[in-house]
Amino acid sequence: MLVKTTGSAIHGIDAIIITIEVNISQGKKFYLVGLPDNAVKESHHRLVAVLNNIGFKFPRRRIVINMAPADIKKEGSAYDLPIAIAILAASNQIDEDRLDEFVMMGELSLDGTIKPVKGALPMALKAKEEGFKNIVVPKENVMEAAIVDGIDVYGFHHINEVISMLSNKSEDGLVKLDAAEMLVGKHDYPFDFSEVKGQENIKRALEIAAAGGHNIIMIGPPGSGKTMLAKRLPSILPPFSIEEALETTKIHSVAGILPDDSSLVASRPYRSPHHTISDAGLVGGGTFPQPGEISLAQNGVLFLDELPEFKRTVLEVMRQPMEDRIVTISRARVTVDYPASFMLVAAMNPCPCGYYNDPERECVCSPGLVKTYLNKISGPLLDRIDLHIEVTPVPFKDLAMTPKGESSNTVRKRVILANKIQEQRFKENTRVFSNAQMSSRDIDSYCELQPDGLALLKMAMEKLNLSARAFNRIKKVARTIADLDNAKTIRNDHIAEAIQYRSLDRESWGN
Ligand SMILES: Nc1ncnc2c1ncn2[C@@H]1O[C@H](COP(=O)(O)OP(=O)(O)O)[C@@H](O)[C@H]1O
Ligand SMILES: [Mg+2]
Ligand SMILES: [Zn+2]
Repeated sequence: MLVKTTGSAIHGIDAIIITIEVNISQGKKFYLVGLPDNAVKESHHRLVAVLNNIGFKFPRRRIVINMAPADIKKEGSAYDLPIAIAILAASNQIDEDRLDEFVMMGELSLDGTIKPVKGALPMALKAKEEGFKNIVVPKENVMEAAIVDGIDVYGFHHINEVISMLSNKSEDGLVKLDAAEMLVGKHDYPFDFSEVKGQENIKRALEIAAAGGHNIIMIGPPGSGKTMLAKRLPSILPPFSIEEALETTKIHSVAGILPDDSSLVASRPYRSPHHTISDAGLVGGGTFPQPGEISLAQNGVLFLDELPEFKRTVLEVMRQPMEDRIVTISRARVTVDYPASFMLVAAMNPCPCGYYNDPERECVCSPGLVKTYLNKISGPLLDRIDLHIEVTPVPFKDLAMTPKGESSNTVRKRVILANKIQEQRFKENTRVFSNAQMSSRDIDSYCELQPDGLALLKMAMEKLNLSARAFNRIKKVARTIADLDNAKTIRNDHIAEAIQYRSLDRESWGN
């Protein structure tokens, strides 16, 4: 008898539907066709053990299992469950009535326990899109899959529970969640800007970065508060929309890093990988491709602390994805794309000893050494960073006396308003969502300067020896500053402020 069940495979951050056909007839052999890798082949032995252990029989007949489409490489052992159920139905040990309404995923232990899979959320999204009424996933993954509306999501620990749900037509194991509700009130961060004393100019620069989605680098001596400031950036970012949350959650689901008890990445991610990270760890890769930190930071912040300590090659591989906001991983048999739209926040000391330009301590590095240190960060990476700011420490003796700063919520209100202006500005544009993402053509249309503004910018560029690449960066940042001011036209004071945030472009640095 021929029975069909349905499983699912992950490709990039999306799922595809895999049809599993099991045919049982006279004879003895076991065939598994459709490009399965070793783990799938091994499932034969596992399935014999599982079926015997749960009180059913592995049929001693000719069994042909076909998995389609054949051109998709089916990795791993997550097909155990749909294959086992199909074998049971094809050998008349269970009823096959409703099997066509289900997508099922799960690897089985020899005792029939269902082990977790990666990517349950995209699988549920795909199953719904393809019109399936139900999806069965491992219990550990049910919370992430259940945020999908319009499909019934069941989570089970053991194959016997699946069999009994199917035969009793019961709703045991069904989990319902409301994703929109889960985002409500989710904006609470453990760190607040008010804890950072003084540093008003740095906080202002971070506010601009948050408002326009600009990449930012902070340069300052050890202990000046760079890490402390970066940690507080998420607290002033605009709200996480349900679309963004789902997109980020999909990536975390595919990477298998969602905690068991939570289903939705409900606030913007903040990723801060250590500088010893590998290329693959940062941008993604591996034999079975996995998203890297730049994708896990989707719609949030990637903080690279001590930037010059990262291997140059690692920073180099980030360049293209930063430009495209997507990363393409190519392997012999597969090419996958992962989204990589994040805000880069970087921090570094100004020189090897750390005290170049420090008001209180003497730098012991030669000018040549300072230059070499800076050159460790590649020009093209720096080129994608709109704001450069020098952080000077608040002297220790002043820290106690300096009053508390503005709270993150107050700052965030301004960021949200500036964000709304950009939403309007780019509503017709499918690729650009923030000022930072504007192309040269967008800059021409949205960042027009008045004649005297243009003259001011040109003069500053000459006087401060700013490089040509700074020109468009300054215009974008000036646009965000004007948005924070709710000003339609970019004024001279907006430009003047934007010019201040190009420290590393000045040719005088390190001389
Ligand atoms: N402006 C400040 N307000 C309050 N505490 C500060 C400030 N600057 C530095 N600190 C204190 O100094 C510590 C070290 O700062 P940190 O962020 O690690 O510096 P950096 O990353 O620049 O080396 C912080 O954890 C904080 O306790
Ligand atoms: Mg630090
Ligand atoms: Zn130094």
